[in-house]
Amino acid sequence: MAAEAVKRVTSRHGAFHPLRVAAVDRLTDDAVAVTLLVPPALRETFRFAAGQHIAVRRSAEGAEIRRTYSICTPAPGAEGPEFLRIGVRLVEGGEFSTYALKELAVGEVMEVMAPAGRFALEPRPGHFAAVVGGSGITPVLSIAATLLSRQPEARFCLIRSDRTAASTMFLEEVADLKDRWPDRFQLVCALSREEQQAGLVSGRLDEERLTGLLPALLPVASVDGWFLCGPYGLVRAAERALRGLGVSRDRVHQEIFHVDAAPAEGVPIAGAALAASHSSVTATLDGRSGTWPVQDGEPLLETVLRNRSDAPYACKGGVCGTCRAFLVSGQVRMDRNFALEPDELEAGYVLACQSHPVGERVELDFDR
Ligand code: FES
Repeated sequence: MAAEAVKRVTSRHGAFHPLRVAAVDRLTDDAVAVTLLVPPALRETFRFAAGQHIAVRRSAEGAEIRRTYSICTPAPGAEGPEFLRIGVRLVEGGEFSTYALKELAVGEVMEVMAPAGRFALEPRPGHFAAVVGGSGITPVLSIAATLLSRQPEARFCLIRSDRTAASTMFLEEVADLKDRWPDRFQLVCALSREEQQAGLVSGRLDEERLTGLLPALLPVASVDGWFLCGPYGLVRAAERALRGLGVSRDRVHQEIFHVDAAPAEGVPIAGAALAASHSSVTATLDGRSGTWPVQDGEPLLETVLRNRSDAPYACKGGVCGTCRAFLVSGQVRMDRNFALEPDELEAGYVLACQSHPVGERVELDFDR
């Protein structure tokens, strides 16, 4: 993601800050937008690039749950944001989303980590496009609104896929983009569970359909950046379609929101030899380092967390990228990776929650 490289937030890693809920707006039957007030003292900490996300933490019945949610509002100026708005869709059995939809009220305080993530676009002239599914619209709404308002020489094409019109999040906000920039914003909606209506594409967007649809919509080869966001199946289908259409990998950015069946797509790093039985990890976090033994089979994040409870993480599933760390020395094997881009892997970054040591010593740096 070199062109859209975003500086990592420099505030303390893993630290949570209290933010008060200013509004909870119903978007659909199963989704809300939550607006959080950012006090002046935290506006620098919460300054974000369009497309970034925040991690939230909630303690209930003695257990802690963490989730990441993308910010849907446009990126703020140098003074930082007065508020953040996130979209939360109900996930079946999801503890945090159930709480957000059924209990969360104005005035409550949520614990929130500083914005992070590299699925982002710094406004610049050019033609950009996104293929999103369901709640994958959330970061792309921020990206499109920021780009169009700040860069008069930019255009954006949004292809969104939803089950039905009634389940479509941020309908009004997206319609507003079309009203404000009719010449620079192109919108295509595909509904997978509804009969075709005027101007809509019906049926699921799979690789074959996207391969036919994309060249009919825009000059695929001259698009400067593609943003794919949503469920695993849609993102992979769009990625394969783009590859088949000759789009180079460095123009494609992706963020996966759900990995349903946990496909085996681990990325072994530097040879997947068996882990040594007596490995240790040295980790640097906020300028302080420590070295600790790795217990058999555990990912490096767990070793670090046992000794440094402020280590950053959210999903522990290789999806959100919050636990990204630089591999200073040694080798690791990652179980799976749905968060790091190829250029990050090449540069030496790993997901601590998915990494196991290969060899006796590994050194990680969470500050880079
Ligand atoms: S905590 Fe989400 S990828 Fe590691």
